[in-house]
Amino acid sequence: MCGIVAYVGSGSALPVLLEGLKRLEYRGYDSAGVAVLAPEGVDRAAASPPQVFGDLQLCKAVGRVAVLEDAVAAAGGVEGALGIAHTRWATHGKVTEANAHPHVGESADGATIALVHNGTIENYAALRTLLENKGHAFTSETDTEVLAKLVAEMYGKVDTRSEDVGFSRLEHALRLALREVTGAYAVAAVCDAEPCTLVAARKGSPLIVGVADGAYVVASDGSAIVSHTSRAVTLDDGQVVRLQAGPAGSLQPGQDAPCAAGWVRPMHTTTLENEAVSHEVADLEFELEQIELGDYPHYMLKEIMEQPATLRTCLRGRVDVREGRIVLGGLNALSRELVRAKRFVFTGQGTAYHAGLIGEYLMEDLAKLPSRATYASEFRYRNPLIEAGTVIVAVSQSGETADTMAALQEAKERGALALGAVNVVGSTMARETDAGVYLRVGPEIGVASTKAFVGQVAVLTMLALFMGKRRVMSQADMETYLEHLDRIPEHVASLVRQSDYIKGKAAEVVDRDNWLFLGRGYNYPVALEGALKLKEISYIHAEGMPAAEMKHGPIALIDDGMPVVFIATRGSQYDKVMSNIEEVRARGGRVLAVATEGDTDIERYSDAVFRVPDVPEPLQPLLTVVPLQLLSYHAAVLRGHDVDKPRNLAKSVTVE
Ligand code: M6R
Repeated sequence: MCGIVAYVGSGSALPVLLEGLKRLEYRGYDSAGVAVLAPEGVDRAAASPPQVFGDLQLCKAVGRVAVLEDAVAAAGGVEGALGIAHTRWATHGKVTEANAHPHVGESADGATIALVHNGTIENYAALRTLLENKGHAFTSETDTEVLAKLVAEMYGKVDTRSEDVGFSRLEHALRLALREVTGAYAVAAVCDAEPCTLVAARKGSPLIVGVADGAYVVASDGSAIVSHTSRAVTLDDGQVVRLQAGPAGSLQPGQDAPCAAGWVRPMHTTTLENEAVSHEVADLEFELEQIELGDYPHYMLKEIMEQPATLRTCLRGRVDVREGRIVLGGLNALSRELVRAKRFVFTGQGTAYHAGLIGEYLMEDLAKLPSRATYASEFRYRNPLIEAGTVIVAVSQSGETADTMAALQEAKERGALALGAVNVVGSTMARETDAGVYLRVGPEIGVASTKAFVGQVAVLTMLALFMGKRRVMSQADMETYLEHLDRIPEHVASLVRQSDYIKGKAAEVVDRDNWLFLGRGYNYPVALEGALKLKEISYIHAEGMPAAEMKHGPIALIDDGMPVVFIATRGSQYDKVMSNIEEVRARGGRVLAVATEGDTDIERYSDAVFRVPDVPEPLQPLLTVVPLQLLSYHAAVLRGHDVDKPRNLAKSVTVE
C-alpha cells in the first residue's frame, strides 16, 4: 500500500527520500512523488518540470520510483534539506500523475502547503464541497488533496497571536484540519513559509520518526529509516509531531524556525487538542541486512530460504524441551483469564487467515477448546456473537491490515479477550491487543507471505500446546510434541534444499493455466495457502479446497494434464486422500504430491513427489507448506513475472 518518507535535517533531502521510497517499493504502489523546499536564494522558477509552487519543488510520476528518479534528474534535481515523498496505491481516483502525492493547497495569505497521506479520509466528499465553495480549485480526484487544501484553509485562519500556534503555524493548522476529518491517516506536510519545519501525524495508519544524527527521517515503515538510524519513535494514534532544523533555544513562540546546518531541535509531540505528550525513542527491531537482498534474485526466495533460521528465532526460549513446557512470556499477565477461556476465534485475511484456520484445528485438537477461524472482513460486519470467555486472536504479519484491525476492535467491544500473533513490533494490532506473541521472523519484504506464515503457524502451535497443557494434555504427550517442534527448523532446512528439484517439476506443468490444491484435515488450510501462493505471483488460476469437496463439483474441471497438487502426508486421512488421488488420475489429471518420507506407495500414483519428514499431524503444516512455496516461486519465475512486485498487490492492505 501507500508509503511515506519525509526528511528534515542538515543534509540533502532528495537522496534520503528516493532511497526511502525504493525501500518501500515492496509494499506495492502505482505512482510516486516528491516535494522538496528549495533553500533560500535558489531560483527554481525556470525549472520545468518539476512543478514549482513558491519555493516548493514538486515532481510526480506514474510507475516505478526509478521513473520518478529519472524525471527529477531530467529537471536538474531538486535541492533542499526539507522534503516529503510518497508511493501511492490507488484508492480514490485512477493511477495518474495528477492523483499521485504530494498534493498542495494554498492559504489565503499565499503560503503553499504540500502533503502526503496514507489511509482514507471518509468524509472527503463533504469537505471537498465545502472547500470548493471557499474558492479552492481541485486538480485531482483524491481524498488527500482535500486534506492538503483543508490544512491550507486552516493555515490562513490560524490566529498567529494564539498561544496554540507555538513554534509553527503549520503544526497548528494540521491539528485544526485533522480535527475535522474522519477516517484513517498517516500524514506528513511542509509549507514554503516555514522552510525548516516538517509536521506529521497519525491515526490508524503507522508512522515512525527516525532520530538520526542532525536529521529526522519520518516513514510509514521502519525499512525506509533503518539505513540512517536504528533509533526511532513510533507515533501513537491521534498524535502530531513537529520536527525542525535549527539550533535549540533560538526561537520565540510564534516565530518560524530559522534553518541552521547541523542542528535539529528536539521533537515536539502533541495530541490533536494540543496537549503536549511524551514520546519514547526506542531501537528499531531489525537490522539493515535483514532488508537487503544479498545474493538472492528475489526477496521471496530469500525469505523462503531463511525459514530454518527464522523458525529457530521464533521457537527460541519458548519451546523448553528440558522442562517440558511452552514459555510464552507475553501471555503471563493473562494466565488466569486464559485458563477460563471457553472459546477461541482466529481472525485474519489472506495467508494470515489460512494460518488462523490451522490455529482452529490445533486449538480443538490439542486443547479441546471450541474454536473457529473467520475472515476478519466477514466477522466485523456479521454482528458476531461473543460469549463470555471468548478469546480472539488477530493473526497478521504487518499488524496493520484494516479488516483484521476492525474485527479485533469489534470483538473487544463485545467483551472478548484480544490476543495477537503479529510480526511487526509496535504495530497497531500489537498495541491494541491485550497481550500477544510476536512471530519474531524479521521483516518480510516479499509481497507473497512465506516466512510469516510459518511463523504464524509456529506461534499458534505453541499457543495450542500452552492451552492444551493447562487443560487436557498429558506431560508425556507434551514432551513428544516439544521434541518434534524443536527439530522442525532442521527439517525445514532439508526441505529448502529441494529447491532445484521442485523447479524442475514446476517446469513440467507451468504452462497449465488451471490448478487444484487438495488436502484433508490439517492439510486443507495448507492447500488453500498453496493455491493462494500460486495465483498471487504466477497469475495461474488455482483453487484450494478440502479433498473430499472435489467430488461435489470441481471434479468437472479435471481434464487431461491438469495439475492437481495433493498434500497427502501420512496421517488419519491418508487412505481417503489416496482414493481422491486415484479419482483425479482416472480423469487424466497430473498429480503432484507432498508426501511423507518413506512413503513409496504414493510414487505409483503421482507424477511428482515432494517429500517431507515424518512428524505428528498437528506439526505437519510447518513442513508441507514449504514445497508449495517453492513450487509457486519457481512457477512464477518460469513464467517471467516480477515475483516481489506482483501486479495489483500491496504488501499490507490498510484500507477496506
Ligand atoms: O499483514 P497481514 O498478515 O495482516 O496481511 C494479510 C494478507 O493481506 C496477506 O497475508 C496476503 O494474503 C499475502 N499477500 C499473501 O501472500
